[in-house]
Amino acid sequence: MDEHVLHTYQRAEEVFVSGNGAEIVDASGKQYLDFLGGIAVSALGHAHPGLTAALRDQVGKVVHVSNLFRHPYTEEVATRLARLSGLEAVFFTNSGAEANEAALKIARKFHKNAGNPERTGFIAIEGGFHGRTLGALSLTHNAKYRAPFEPLVPGCSWVPANDVAALESALRRERPAALVLEPIQGEAGVRELTREFLRAARRTCDATGTLLVHDEVQGGCGRTGQFLAGDAASVKPDIVTLAKPIAAGLPMGACVVSKGLVDTLQPGDHGSTFAGGPLVCRAALVFLRELEEGGLMQQVAERGTQLRAGLEGLQREIPLISELRGRGLIQGVRLARGAEDAQRELYRAGLITNRTGGDVIRLLPPYVITPAQIARGLDILREVLRAL
Ligand SMILES: Cc1ncc(COP(=O)(O)O)c(C=O)c1O
Repeated sequence: MDEHVLHTYQRAEEVFVSGNGAEIVDASGKQYLDFLGGIAVSALGHAHPGLTAALRDQVGKVVHVSNLFRHPYTEEVATRLARLSGLEAVFFTNSGAEANEAALKIARKFHKNAGNPERTGFIAIEGGFHGRTLGALSLTHNAKYRAPFEPLVPGCSWVPANDVAALESALRRERPAALVLEPIQGEAGVRELTREFLRAARRTCDATGTLLVHDEVQGGCGRTGQFLAGDAASVKPDIVTLAKPIAAGLPMGACVVSKGLVDTLQPGDHGSTFAGGPLVCRAALVFLRELEEGGLMQQVAERGTQLRAGLEGLQREIPLISELRGRGLIQGVRLARGAEDAQRELYRAGLITNRTGGDVIRLLPPYVITPAQIARGLDILREVLRAL
């Protein structure tokens, strides 16, 4: 059947058929520990009882009504996202790329409304990944992803990560509509932007009238133990984009804007048929209630500390580990060589991770992972990396 699916991914051989929490089972009955969570998506793990019950209930009521009508779940999710992010209002989407597309359109229209229609370009950061749609792809740094589809959106450029002087001079020279950055660059190999750089970005955006967009599609929604990765630097962007874990596995994204941008888009300016419907919002509510009222964010912080301490122990033992990156439940183990083999061997040993940025084994476990499962994952990592 595979011949009828376009080959846009290098798919692994394993076929997963069921799961429970941070464990997942393949078609042969083999059990794995899931340290990838569907690439930062399955925050509540697999077969979460609260999510399962809520979705069963919702499917029996109403799945879709259209954005021509209001729905209480949509409004409650938006209210919670505004509260958690410290921003004001939400445009719902079905993915991270679409959340970024919304941010780009809002930035352009904001400047047009302000009498600066020439401010149409964007600056992003080297190594950044923002998605595969034409607008989001225009800001994605890796030339391999962009080249086959050029020409893309004009006026996009990149500055080196953590180079404050380069950032300041680019913003002053180019006067873009927005600066778009990931506080933690997931696809670049879990590379963190420094607090100094994030603060300089905020300061220079303010000084040049540039909108600041934080793409927190991968690092946001509690993944670092705080709701936004940018919170650690006490930086509030004008727009934050979210997706991946936000509906605990169902497709959902959000473009959350500050007060000054609430009226930028007017009826008819933007839309999305499926986005923010009752089913995904019911799922998002289960997740956001766990984060806000269920102590899940604190749990992420604790598991993250445990994971980091364990990885530091491994680094002392195993010279192959050249660097540790990230925090909370987004961490990366950089290897001096053999990352591709390591990932394959980890699958064989029953640990699902993935390789990113070339030489980094990326760990993005579900937020509900237990201390014992973290310890077991570390044991498997030790065994496999030692053997290499
Ligand atoms: C930081 C970031 N932005 C955007 C995207 C694109 O999200 P999606 O695949 O949901 O379109 C990703 C996906 O990996 C991401 O990591």
